[in-house]
Amino acid sequence: MDRRQILVTSALPYVNAGIHLGYMVEALQTDFWLRFQRLRGHEVRYFCGDDTHGTATMLRAQREGREPEALLDEMKAAHIADLNAFDVVHDNFSSTHTPANEALVGEFWSALREQGCVAERDVTQFFDPEAGIFLADRFIIGGCPKCESPDQYGDSCANCGATYEPTELIDPKSAISGAPPEERSHRHLFVELEPFHEFLDEWTQAPGRMPPETANWLKGTFLADALRDWDISRPAPYFGIEIPDAPGNYFYVWLDAPIGYIAATKEWCDETGESLDRWWRNPDCEIHHFIGKDIAYFHTLFWPAMLKTAGFQLPKTVHVHGFLTVNGEKMSKRTGTAVLARTYLDHLSPEFLRYYYASKLSAKVDDIDMNLDEFVAKVNSDLVGKVVNLASRTARFVKGEGLPAYPNAKDDGLFAAGAALSDEIAEAYEARDSNKAMRLIMALADRANEFVEARAPWTLKKDESKQEELREVCAIALNLFRQITVYLAPVLPRFAEESSRLLGLEGETRWEDASSPVEGGEVAKFKHLMERVDPEKVQAMLDASRAGWEASEAEAAAATGSTDEAFDGEPLEAEITIDDFVKVDLRVVEIVEAKSVPKANKLLELTLSLGGGETRTVFAGIKKAYKPEDLVGRMTVMVANLAPRKMKFGLSEGMVLAAGPGDSDIYILSPDSGAKPGQRIR
Ligand code: MSP
Ligand code: ZN
Repeated sequence: MDRRQILVTSALPYVNAGIHLGYMVEALQTDFWLRFQRLRGHEVRYFCGDDTHGTATMLRAQREGREPEALLDEMKAAHIADLNAFDVVHDNFSSTHTPANEALVGEFWSALREQGCVAERDVTQFFDPEAGIFLADRFIIGGCPKCESPDQYGDSCANCGATYEPTELIDPKSAISGAPPEERSHRHLFVELEPFHEFLDEWTQAPGRMPPETANWLKGTFLADALRDWDISRPAPYFGIEIPDAPGNYFYVWLDAPIGYIAATKEWCDETGESLDRWWRNPDCEIHHFIGKDIAYFHTLFWPAMLKTAGFQLPKTVHVHGFLTVNGEKMSKRTGTAVLARTYLDHLSPEFLRYYYASKLSAKVDDIDMNLDEFVAKVNSDLVGKVVNLASRTARFVKGEGLPAYPNAKDDGLFAAGAALSDEIAEAYEARDSNKAMRLIMALADRANEFVEARAPWTLKKDESKQEELREVCAIALNLFRQITVYLAPVLPRFAEESSRLLGLEGETRWEDASSPVEGGEVAKFKHLMERVDPEKVQAMLDASRAGWEASEAEAAAATGSTDEAFDGEPLEAEITIDDFVKVDLRVVEIVEAKSVPKANKLLELTLSLGGGETRTVFAGIKKAYKPEDLVGRMTVMVANLAPRKMKFGLSEGMVLAAGPGDSDIYILSPDSGAKPGQRIR
């Protein structure tokens, strides 16, 4: 087999968010594939980094009162730590905000200019006159022009799914300052893509270039019409790379982001003395991108056009995966299913996720669902019940002994059958069909366990005359365990290492190790490889995840003084003086009686004690939020000098204070303990 030279990338995660379980789908699928290639003996390098530029980074740094670079350093360190904790290790995890990237972007730009691919024209866009910046669609909110649902983003409606231009919104306002935006015109630079149409028709449709679903989608959509020019400039202020021959304008983040793949390689080359051309201008080097379906368009149209123009090697394959859903739904912060990698790691072991994703992922672009019950069941039954079990039930009987020569004739042909699957399992990994690979491997584990079950080493142990047979059975079981862990090594590298340690083997694991039994190694003490997944820990992870998002949202709202969140959509009243305030006589009261008002679906009749035998009757619209019996004995706050109001059901002599929009979403106030009925609040 020829030794292949392979460069692998995962999409660059946005610097503004933590690594979450959605990104882990991508990172782990990439990692399985490249570890498989390494195990086969190929030369493999893996590059990634943070995608740093754009308005979001600029605004966040402003809000946090620090330089963007400080933010970038902190996030990069956190991203690397999270990924490494899952055994995802890059040759270089860099950033798009580096001198190497800026230099390469300059090279691409010169090439685009020289080859006449750049056009210029005026673009009319919304501008925030208070913040002094042009607003991307995501930074404009207003009513949906179709269903009129309020507070929708400038590009699409989360309520009815309509897509539109930000200019069509009802009462648009800037999400940054709240000011109504103005339309302003500015000169933009465009990359013309239509001249690449024929090239892209051919390149995208080449067999094996990308999943057929993606190739067909491109053919039926973008490639079916003339390709539109791509707007690649943004006027200042923008956090990004300034366009060398158009000062005051910056490259749109999606122009410099993929160049970050090359820049990360360049830094590594400078560090190690390698040549960049051997990796990026060499037809013998295979370039493989792993990405999600949402960004296929950038990687299969713009990117190849840019690489071609600048004279770099084009990717051999763009591996596209689907989106992760959790328990059948889009990941959500509110329910806690948008789990950060860090939160997962606080509760569960990385191997669980590695194996579970491997068992779910295939070469398809379909979304994959992480069903948490299935997650628990699968890890426990496959990894703990089948794989770990094989060693834990046999290693102890031969601890400290050298394994006997493999008793080939006595294993019912199991090892040979496993070795015969080598190519089929390898093909599945090569095609990134880890689901198929896991199924083939678990079938081997099933048969190995049946063998151990039938030969019952624990019974042999008790019979003096059967000690040789015991050793043989254990040698067979441990070799089958070894074979399985070699096949699993791309997914569970620590298992393969542990099986080497257990069998006293030296050196790196190789794919061929699955085809020949080991002899003579000394069996070490069996170290427990893994605990069962505890469903309570899964629940604890979700709870922590939800609490984490709530806390960070509250913090963000406090930091921006965001009028929307903090004031619940209700603007502040006109300013008052202290004299105005003292006119309102607020008193602590005890609720001594509460009953539901028949025929009124929102009202409770409350009897409030002001102490000293003074009571007031108040009708309060809180029936949907409180049961009368839960209120009796509670302290609360009332407006005691409000003019009495005659209602259909009787006279209301004041009001109790409560927050919330209404119906079941109402919260009455309570004083701290110690306050007495009748005390004034000021
Ligand atoms: N910064 C861009 C990529 C630039 S590449 C030159 C970006 N970043 S991202 O952080 O939003 O996403 C990074 C990768 O993670 C993308 O490939 C995206 O498809 C993938 N995923 C993000 N959320 C995901 C899921 N819920 N499920 C699976 N993959 C997900 O896009
Ligand atoms: Zn709508």
